Amino acid sequence: MSRKVTKAIFPVAGLGTRFLPATKSVPKEIMTLVDQPLIQYAIDEARAAGIKEFIFVTSRGKGALEDYFDHSPVLEQELRKKGKDDLMATLKRTYMDSGAIAYIRQHKALGLGHAVWCARRLLGPKEPFAVILPDDVIAAEKPCLQQMVEAYEELGGGSMVAAMEVPPEKASSYGVLDYEGETNESVKVTGMVEKPPAGTEPSNLAVIGRYILAPEVMKNLNKKKEGAGGEIQLTDAIADEISEGRNVYGYRFAGQRFDCGSKAGFLQATISFGLSRPELREELQDYLDELAAVRSAAQ
Ligand code: UTP
Repeated sequence: MSRKVTKAIFPVAGLGTRFLPATKSVPKEIMTLVDQPLIQYAIDEARAAGIKEFIFVTSRGKGALEDYFDHSPVLEQELRKKGKDDLMATLKRTYMDSGAIAYIRQHKALGLGHAVWCARRLLGPKEPFAVILPDDVIAAEKPCLQQMVEAYEELGGGSMVAAMEVPPEKASSYGVLDYEGETNESVKVTGMVEKPPAGTEPSNLAVIGRYILAPEVMKNLNKKKEGAGGEIQLTDAIADEISEGRNVYGYRFAGQRFDCGSKAGFLQATISFGLSRPELREELQDYLDELAAVRSAAQ
């Protein structure tokens, strides 16, 4: 029987160069999708999955992210005075219980695997933990990590990565799975490779930024092996689990993933999340229809 997953690591120490110059002073995770920063979507998803402890791996210049979770008595007082109960509830969703949140510094951006390793002392030697990359935003009826936690508990342990089919020509931008056998949404992973050169990818099932990892993965990260792009890759540490005979599963989640680490993905997410808001839908849809009409008239 697997132990409950109650801790999640949020690696947010990357440089976010694809969003320069914005990310010169604004952490990517604070950038706003409709009216919420990316990090709030990640926190909501983690809470829905039963996560109780939130570990952020940060770096220089991420102060705004830490401030985001602070209580704001002045704002609260003002909203209360004006009777803005709905905004008050929105504000409270950003609050974290005392002691439920921890910040660890990654001093150098040596890769996602290294960022996760930086949190090693905050995890128990026997507990599985989740990793959430906030720039992968997933729209789903049941939040993605919750789907994974439920499937993980049924499988009884090991490690699990969120997986999604991608067009073959895009596979070389992802961690890619080799796998066998399928039980509903889960596949048994037999190999994993980070950013395989085009044409060498074992499948078109790619790893997306949600993981439930066995504690042994931390031990593998201890080796600090350099992988693709000269970075310490999380994918490699998970692949080591397979060679050591432990189970790794790919989980095909139900939902739509947006790559908010890229400009095109962020814009698509903005439109999609905007259209899902009843108060914005009509105006935004009218505008999109207008654009489509102008485009087809020009063709
Ligand atoms: P990305 O590959 O998107 O890198 O990292 P990045 O630095 O955030 O963005 P670009 O490519 O320069 O635009 C994926 C996730 O891993 C974290 C990032 O913060 C992001 O959540 N990460 C990456 C770290 O925490 N540390 C690292 O050394 C690398």
